[in-house]
Amino acid sequence: MKYRELGRTEMKVSEIGFGAWGIGKSQWVGADDNLSLSTLKAARDSGINFFDTALAYGNGHSERLLARAFGKSNDVIIASKVPRLNLVWPARNGTPLRDVFPREHVLKSLNQSLANLERDSLDVYQFHVWNDEWAHDDEWLKTVQEMRNSGKVRAVGLSINDHQPANALEALASGLIDTVQVIYNIFDQSPEDSLFPYCRQNGIGVIARVPFDEGSLTGNIRADTTFPSNDFRNIYFKGNRKQEVWKRVEKIVADTRVPIEELPSLALGFCLADPTVSTVIPGMRRPERVLANAAVSDAGPLSPAMVDKLHRHRWVRSYYPE
Ligand SMILES: NC(=O)c1ccc[n+]([C@@H]2O[C@H](COP(=O)([O-])OP(=O)(O)OC[C@H]3O[C@@H](n4cnc5c(N)ncnc54)[C@H](OP(=O)(O)O)[C@@H]3O)[C@@H](O)[C@H]2O)c1
Repeated sequence: MKYRELGRTEMKVSEIGFGAWGIGKSQWVGADDNLSLSTLKAARDSGINFFDTALAYGNGHSERLLARAFGKSNDVIIASKVPRLNLVWPARNGTPLRDVFPREHVLKSLNQSLANLERDSLDVYQFHVWNDEWAHDDEWLKTVQEMRNSGKVRAVGLSINDHQPANALEALASGLIDTVQVIYNIFDQSPEDSLFPYCRQNGIGVIARVPFDEGSLTGNIRADTTFPSNDFRNIYFKGNRKQEVWKRVEKIVADTRVPIEELPSLALGFCLADPTVSTVIPGMRRPERVLANAAVSDAGPLSPAMVDKLHRHRWVRSYYPE
């Protein structure tokens, strides 16, 4: 496993990190706690040292599993998130900050996450959604300062709205934010336009999330794929979206001549090809996924010609109403 700087935080994070949404057993259905614990341990054994979770993932279940797997051990770096008070997704224009991240809610949530994780401090604490209309809000600026001064948080991050990577640049200019978490994958390459250049110049750590587009870039989402009832992918891949993503996946395979079984590695390799990315965090619920994904770092970078080819598969879309 290779490691990269998490921006200016002085933390060194594994190129392949761990997305711990799926093991939280909320919107993703089908995780098994014993298997999740083996998966987390396999991750650490493979050199993965960065784990992304959230209070919202199973109302703390994902955080509590991390505590069970790792205890207080300080060789893992844990990033968690403040949930949205108003539960609205993504963060909408015109919504006051007070409705989403009031001071008392942020500090109470932080204490709850620390209790779930059985830790005295968090390595990275991220706002789970963001709208740059809040960037100059006095209450927010003071809350961030207060968190930083409390010693309970080593770094503060923003988790940026899906497909809106520039909707954080104002807040980053405050100098109070150390990391961003953003969707970045073969389909959604939009962070390369203005977010990544800003992060490079200003030492902001970049956590690349949803590298498989919730599964389509693994090659496992086909027209006839079904999901357990209550699984959020029934909505994410609703209507003709499964056909649409499969058509695009077939084009990637034809263009690159990479066997479809190797598509997951290609998808992670694409994310790591941009040196601005500090870590990429695939969601994993089984040890064999960890072994396959960790191997991508060991295998070394994709060729520039392959990265160029993959850049031609950019797909601009939004699954959310404006
Ligand atoms: N901040 C936010 O708002 C936000 C939103 C979304 C995600 N995230 C973070 O980003 C992480 C990653 O996103 P995600 O989990 O939603 O989606 P993802 O990483 O794009 O895709 C996860 C899917 O890929 C499968 N997979 C993983 N490795 C594979 C491999 N080698 N071969 C085949 N399939 C493989 C998983 O399998 P299994 O079904 O076997 O698990 C799962 O179905 C989350 O866990 C979370 O930490 C944050």
